[in-house]
Amino acid sequence: MNISVFASGTGSNFLAILKARKEGIIKSNISLLITNNSSCGAVNIAREYGIEVIHISRKVYPQLTEKEYANVFLNVLSKHSIDLIVLAGYMKMVEPEVVRTFKNRIINIHPALLPMFGGKGMYGINVHKAVIKAGVKVTGITIHCVNENYDEGKILFQKCIEVDEADDEYSLQKRVLELEHKYYPYVISLIEEGKIKLET
Ligand code: GRF
Repeated sequence: MNISVFASGTGSNFLAILKARKEGIIKSNISLLITNNSSCGAVNIAREYGIEVIHISRKVYPQLTEKEYANVFLNVLSKHSIDLIVLAGYMKMVEPEVVRTFKNRIINIHPALLPMFGGKGMYGINVHKAVIKAGVKVTGITIHCVNENYDEGKILFQKCIEVDEADDEYSLQKRVLELEHKYYPYVISLIEEGKIKLET
């Protein structure tokens, strides 16, 4: 398979995926990074690993219609024969036309146990703040298929950890992120082997 990662931020999950590729845990080519933020950490990581970076943002293409803008993504993805899109801290909604074209071929990771603590505004530290505020005893990660609504596609994998009395949102974020780095590459390898099916 050819994989394109979409990222906007630090890129620690992207790095975990690249390391897993290097170690042979992931077999697919990590063909390219698409980002809406050309100065984010993920871009530096891509450069370090010699991965092509494509910057696609509304700021670059303000004049395009929705359809034309979606076509910018689709043309790049088609040119690189991308089979699977892996969202790793991508802060934008994927264009609906791209979601339709890549139906059951886009995955995302969320730092909580969906369907709780998901949806609009639930990203980054906000998620962990909400978890602490709710007083739940477990949290974790969810890896899921992407459809046109935030955090609502088929759940592929979850892993949980206990929330300790002493946890605050930052300690929780750190522990959840460690889970993400361990299991996102693993789940990609299971998809490659056909042990996790993306189809509904
Ligand atoms: C992760 O917590 C991930 O679950 C969420 O965005 C964050 C990205 O972190 N979707 P990083 O950029 O991979 O460090």
